[in-house]
Amino acid sequence: MSPKKGPQKIVKKKIVSKRRGDVSEKDSTIPGEFERASLAADFIFSRTPLRPQIALVLGSGLGPFADEFTSAMKIPYAEIPYFPRSTAIGHAGKLVVGKVGAVPVAGMQGRVHLYEGYSAKQVVFPIRVFARMGVKAVILTNAAGGIKREFTQGRLVVISDHINLQGVNPLTGPNDERFGLRFHDMTNAYDKRFREIAVGEGNRLGIGMYEGVYAALPGPSYETSAEIRYLRTIGADLVGMSTVPEVIAARHSGLPVLGISCVTNAAAGILDQPLNHVEVLETAERVKGQFINLLKAVIPRIAEEIR
Ligand code: HPA
Repeated sequence: MSPKKGPQKIVKKKIVSKRRGDVSEKDSTIPGEFERASLAADFIFSRTPLRPQIALVLGSGLGPFADEFTSAMKIPYAEIPYFPRSTAIGHAGKLVVGKVGAVPVAGMQGRVHLYEGYSAKQVVFPIRVFARMGVKAVILTNAAGGIKREFTQGRLVVISDHINLQGVNPLTGPNDERFGLRFHDMTNAYDKRFREIAVGEGNRLGIGMYEGVYAALPGPSYETSAEIRYLRTIGADLVGMSTVPEVIAARHSGLPVLGISCVTNAAAGILDQPLNHVEVLETAERVKGQFINLLKAVIPRIAEEIR
């Protein structure tokens, strides 16, 4: 198969569910994904004079970082046209546009996940909006289970690559070339230079950084011990339920990505104890300060790279 060149017919969509943004089927009156993302971007721009260079998706427990942004404007997801609403515990559901040092950024306090019942397209809608806002880089953070033995509870791991086991891809269906190519490259999905910066800054801060491959499953159940043995065999070092759809959408629009996981627990079966979400949240809370310091160090360096 080779990528098709030239203009592509844009298929307009019809809302088939009451939930905002849940779309399939053709209709000529309802805006398509590109138009919806443009409307959401215009709405955000109407609320702040800042023009973010970097977008951040702040996963479990890390949302409070956005409370530290200066010149900040907080916009509940519910107010942004077509934006999905977060239902997960530990996800505040606000977009914060502000500054980290001198760098204008947009930070999502929480994301939406497939396991909440959202489609892959809905999960990546915020990334589509960031692309329309003209951001130049995306930083994605998450909580993950550690599969590699060194990835013990509380470690911060820079994602070097991923394995998509979620069974879905946000780009299925008609392709809108205004976002990107039908068949886009994922060879270096996680920007090499950003990874070096994150590892370097982490080590400078005495955090002791690692890199690893993230396997994404749909959740919401945690994995079985056998699934974790399987994931280790196929080359995964971390396991989680997010991030991969967003990376696919960001790369579709040519945006370079940095991904960082907080290892909130040893993956299933590694220790002789059951997993629970309270442990995940407690670890994320404990590591929050270190994670925020890392992001504060990394953001100005990435801003220099994308200038
Ligand atoms: N598995 C999947 N997702 C996770 C885990 C895990 O062990 N920890 C945090 N998110």
